[in-house]
Amino acid sequence: MEPRPQRQPLEPPLVDDRPLWDLWQAAYGFPTVTVADELGLFARLDEAPATAAEISAALHISDRAAEAMLALLAAHGFLVARDGRFHLTPLARSYLLPGNPFYRGGLFALYKDRPRTHAVVREALLHDRRLDAARATASWTDGDWAPERAAAMTAMMHAMSLASAVGLARLLDLSATTRLLDVAGGSGCFAVAFAERNPSLRATVLELPAVCAVADRLIAASPAAEQVGTHPANMFADPWPGGHDAVFFSNVFHDWDRDRCLDLGRRAFAALPTGGRILLHEQLLADAKDGPLGPARYALMMAIYQEGKQFTFAELAALLGECGFVDPDVLPAYGDFSLVSARKP
Ligand SMILES: C[S@@+](CC[C@H](N)C(=O)[O-])C[C@H]1O[C@@H](n2cnc3c(N)ncnc32)[C@H](O)[C@@H]1O
Repeated sequence: MEPRPQRQPLEPPLVDDRPLWDLWQAAYGFPTVTVADELGLFARLDEAPATAAEISAALHISDRAAEAMLALLAAHGFLVARDGRFHLTPLARSYLLPGNPFYRGGLFALYKDRPRTHAVVREALLHDRRLDAARATASWTDGDWAPERAAAMTAMMHAMSLASAVGLARLLDLSATTRLLDVAGGSGCFAVAFAERNPSLRATVLELPAVCAVADRLIAASPAAEQVGTHPANMFADPWPGGHDAVFFSNVFHDWDRDRCLDLGRRAFAALPTGGRILLHEQLLADAKDGPLGPARYALMMAIYQEGKQFTFAELAALLGECGFVDPDVLPAYGDFSLVSARKP
């Protein structure tokens, strides 16, 4: 019998395998935060920093469960351990305390039980679920949302968008704008943030009627409430209000296929005077479509849940050009967001 050929002793791979561990285990971060949120951990640590043993006693969980949860939250940057006690970091204080305006609770409520599994991604990638998404968004566009659904969705988008709205308002020069139309403006957080920063600006949030009812309540709580109003309408079917010199869309073009985006761009063009600006707030993919990670993940979510996609700047510039706009430009905005703008000649 011939001896079996023996392989060479193994050398380690050229790169270490930490990214693969990360890929495998990253999915646990979000549910650990939503469970900790549900258990009231962050509010408790805001009252008083605590040891793992104190947390396990207070939350009636085992010591090893408390240790695992606290270590993961600290490794994600939400907690810091000092002298054996866990303290909230500024990141946790900003986004995880229920009393904070930037609290992400509305997002947690809607996303904590959404399956992010092989089957879900496989279905989206193999059978482009645009048709299902179109059916789901038909209930959006037809405006037949029950008030509870509109409230939950709007609370989710508000939680998702408020920080980027306030961040964008600091960056964006609206000194030459008198009236801004925020199309599909959700909770109105962008219109409100712009108005609070620009006392002479007036803004209108065009939204589905059920969402306007929620936005009206959020707008009323702003010191700039007098400057902002809502306009209940279906953006694809109803006339848009006139008299605005800027039309703003945030996280809207990425929801829709190219024809719908062209329709929105052309409607904005028709609604604007000469010299008026269109502003698109989106997470952009790099020209080579090789990242960054945040927008790339968002693109995958669009493939799962919506009809649209994340764009590159060049794609949006071409689309706006087809609608008649000129001088496309891009400004890095808050976090992973960018602001694409163009002018009606
Ligand atoms: C992804 S959210 C973006 C909300 C907001 N601009 C933001 O960035 O937080 C999309 C919004 O489009 C609105 N929408 C969907 N179809 C619409 C339609 N036909 N007319 C007006 N608004 C619509 C939804 O109600 C929702 O608020």
